[in-house]
Amino acid sequence: MNPETPELVRAAAERARAAGFAYSCDPDVGRLLAVLAAAVPERGRVLELGTGTGVGTAWLVSGLRPRRDATVTSVELDQERSALAASGDWPGFVDFRTGDALKLLPRLGAFDLIFADTVAGKQVGLELTIAALAPHGVLVVDDMTPAPGSTWDAEFAAGQEAVRRALLGHARLAAVELGGHGSGVILATARN
Ligand SMILES: C[S@@+](CC[C@H](N)C(=O)[O-])C[C@H]1O[C@@H](n2cnc3c(N)ncnc32)[C@H](O)[C@@H]1O
Repeated sequence: MNPETPELVRAAAERARAAGFAYSCDPDVGRLLAVLAAAVPERGRVLELGTGTGVGTAWLVSGLRPRRDATVTSVELDQERSALAASGDWPGFVDFRTGDALKLLPRLGAFDLIFADTVAGKQVGLELTIAALAPHGVLVVDDMTPAPGSTWDAEFAAGQEAVRRALLGHARLAAVELGGHGSGVILATARN
């Protein structure tokens, strides 16, 4: 049995519902994010690409709690959505940035955990995301399998396949696909 959904996650999910935003990470992915966040080292740095309304951010924060030494940075292109996410009741170590992940990535430094949840930094610019991993940092991507009953258009499917191949075959990464977990996850750890 899973523990209760954290209040911060409920609040972010409610913002998504009210805004008609349907792309938040699913609870299984969220719980995995919390587990991985709990493992980041002292003064660890966590990055999310694609904030949405803050559901993924909330899972990451819930895994870090009650620590206060780590930081979470979350990047969102859409100004309104970024402001909506930031309107939540977040601890002081969460930093919401509005902008294009591809432009911001090279300036953000190195991270111990990255949740790459937008096309930018995943289908486009994946190498920038990998370069932003600290030694032994962990990268998570989800949505690697179509939702039951839905199909991807050929271009998106080819893009996801390219992400899969790049991550599973990357010289710097030890990677595994957890196809049956949530929306389909690939986990990759930087060897150096
Ligand atoms: C799948 S949703 C993110 C969901 C969120 N991570 C969660 O788990 O709740 C993808 C988000 O990426 C944002 N986005 C799209 N292009 C972007 C870019 N170039 N840089 C940053 N964010 C981007 C979209 O506006 C959208 O809110």
